[in-house]
Amino acid sequence: MRELRFHAYGGPAALRLDEVAEPAAGPGELLVRPDLAGVTLPALRQLRAPGAPQAPAGLGGEYLGRVVAVGEGVTGFTPGDRVGGIAPSVHADLVAAPAALAVAVPGEPAAGDALAVLRSGLVALGALRVGGLRPGESVLVTAAAGGVGHLAVQLAGALGAGRVTAAVGAEGKAAFVRGLGADEVVRYQDGPWGEQVDLVLDGVGGEVLPRAVGALAPFGRLVALGGAGGALDAGELLRGMRTVTGLSMAVLARQRPALLAEWRQELWALLGRGALRPVCVEFPIAAAAEAFGLLERRANLGKVALRIS
Ligand SMILES: NC(=O)c1ccc[n+]([C@@H]2O[C@H](COP(=O)([O-])OP(=O)(O)OC[C@H]3O[C@@H](n4cnc5c(N)ncnc54)[C@H](OP(=O)(O)O)[C@@H]3O)[C@@H](O)[C@H]2O)c1
Repeated sequence: MRELRFHAYGGPAALRLDEVAEPAAGPGELLVRPDLAGVTLPALRQLRAPGAPQAPAGLGGEYLGRVVAVGEGVTGFTPGDRVGGIAPSVHADLVAAPAALAVAVPGEPAAGDALAVLRSGLVALGALRVGGLRPGESVLVTAAAGGVGHLAVQLAGALGAGRVTAAVGAEGKAAFVRGLGADEVVRYQDGPWGEQVDLVLDGVGGEVLPRAVGALAPFGRLVALGGAGGALDAGELLRGMRTVTGLSMAVLARQRPALLAEWRQELWALLGRGALRPVCVEFPIAAAAEAFGLLERRANLGKVALRIS
């Protein structure tokens, strides 16, 4: 079977589609045949930064597919079930996936919609819930055209936000985010980002984080969900009585699984009634370098995925 693997650290050019032996479902695992697998920033970082796992290795992320076999000790899944989850290597004809990180996909949503909702949608809704969005409040979303951001813009509107501002890295993304329902668009490098807001969802961090904190109105809240971290000025928090909260899906999965289940149900319902319209840009698996390159250039509009079968 085919598996996308990197053979050296560096970037998308190091990716190869290798012929490898088929995996089996080990204890606690599902053997899944994926239709789609996500192209994500953590996988891109894995390509760039030496560290475990040792090359050659596959790239982790989210998958959507059907169960082929169930490993020892796994309950609640049977072959043929449509499932999604995350696994250490997902761009392959068969994936050995931890059953504890897999969920059933209800109904028959399109593969791209389901893949986008499974993780990016969960992060977006989770950030709005953790940030305590109340109807009528204003929201600013950074990385607003990305996998998480484009769903956060839509969800903020669906949950009754008064005004939604989309912050993006390039002017060319403005029409896309306006089409999702953003009332205003700002670029990170712009002067003032317009009126201050009640809630910021920040998926960028780094140098953008202090700007994002400055965009908060008194008593405003910021949810930090980006992988890049960033420096906070406690004085800025003190002066405006602002609050900053982190969001980690890994911590929630370990410590608040019931909350994640509740958010998933809410997302499937929103998707089912057309209140959420994910954009998923699919590439064939053979064009993996192009797909990861799009993300690396920060040029994606919506979720990016590889079609496996
Ligand atoms: N907290 C969690 O549990 C959790 C879970 C999943 C994802 N995340 C994080 O959420 C953020 C958004 O994820 P996503 O899946 O929406 O990303 P994505 O679809 O992969 O979007 C990538 C976009 O993010 C922006 N971006 C920000 N920092 C970047 C960087 N250092 N390199 C490349 N692009 C960068 C770029 O748009 P602009 O240039 O317009 O900003 C880019 O187009 C990421 O930081 C990701 O690590 C967190």
